[in-house]
Amino acid sequence: MTNQELKQTIKDMVIVGKGILAADEGLKSAAKRLAAINVESTEETRRQYRNLILSAPQLENYIVGVILFEETLYQKSNDGVLFPELLAKKGIVPGIKVDQGLADLNDSGEKYTKGLDGLGDRLEVYKKTGARFTKWRAVYNISENTPSDESIKKNAEDLAKYAKICQEHGFVPIVEPEVLIDGTHSIETCNKVTDKVLKAVFEALKKENVALDCTILKPSMVISGKEADNRANVDEVAKQTIKILKENVPAELPSINFLSGGQTPEESTAHLNRIHTLGEELPWYVSFSYARALQGPALKAWQGKDENIEAGQREFLKRAKLNSLATQGKYTEDMEK
Ligand code: G3H
Repeated sequence: MTNQELKQTIKDMVIVGKGILAADEGLKSAAKRLAAINVESTEETRRQYRNLILSAPQLENYIVGVILFEETLYQKSNDGVLFPELLAKKGIVPGIKVDQGLADLNDSGEKYTKGLDGLGDRLEVYKKTGARFTKWRAVYNISENTPSDESIKKNAEDLAKYAKICQEHGFVPIVEPEVLIDGTHSIETCNKVTDKVLKAVFEALKKENVALDCTILKPSMVISGKEADNRANVDEVAKQTIKILKENVPAELPSINFLSGGQTPEESTAHLNRIHTLGEELPWYVSFSYARALQGPALKAWQGKDENIEAGQREFLKRAKLNSLATQGKYTEDMEK
């Protein structure tokens, strides 16, 4: 590992007005997204879907890095260019999701994330494709008795081990602890859970000697459960999110890039924008790393049809641009029209 390499990747990925695109849906999630537009998920339809997004003109105006799924590393655009090369040519850093999905942790239905076995060897293979950063997602479900201390500890330790291994192999790790939005819980409950989760994650990162200045955090926002009554408004989400982050995330971490986690595209843009208009001094760059909130409208416009590719790309670029404006506090609701 050369620290220089990690620092360069951070430099290339932390640019004001830009964010990260998560295009790393695994086979199950990709099938779900494609089924929603009545398209069967095959290697070829997944390639077409990636092609639509990754070939969008001027993608580089809004996006600094793309998280890819392993299959996509070896697939080509309609013009016959390997996707990681296509991105690199536009000055966008290709990255790779390295976790291998979720497994049962206990009888409460909690999960831990698989993928530590053989990670170093896989990274050496990914390196040859041009990938320079990685992602690992841990999930925490809010219910009466979850997340348990066991899940908070196990996931924090594994996120830290993952981050350490990635840095040793020259990859900038994106650490993604996702407190799930599913449920009827209040924003206060989400606040308490997120606080506990982040405390454990940063304690574990410190224990593993992970270089925080070469790490990106991808958290969920502090938000009411999707099915909660009287869900907290945009203002409250922005304030509570920033408060919890300030209490837990050291200033040396360069960038926080939120996941959208089931928020609508409009909500996730409005929340990010409000974070930047609170008038608070933010010690880190604060941006997005959305999957559904960036790609959802594009998929809907595309419907798997060649004649709709341009319409799909327009929808994608619209969301990318609005989120870019949100990172600068320049988004307004009437831009949605
Ligand atoms: O792991 C999840 C993705 O990287 C983010 O996806 O924005 O749809 O929650 P999302």
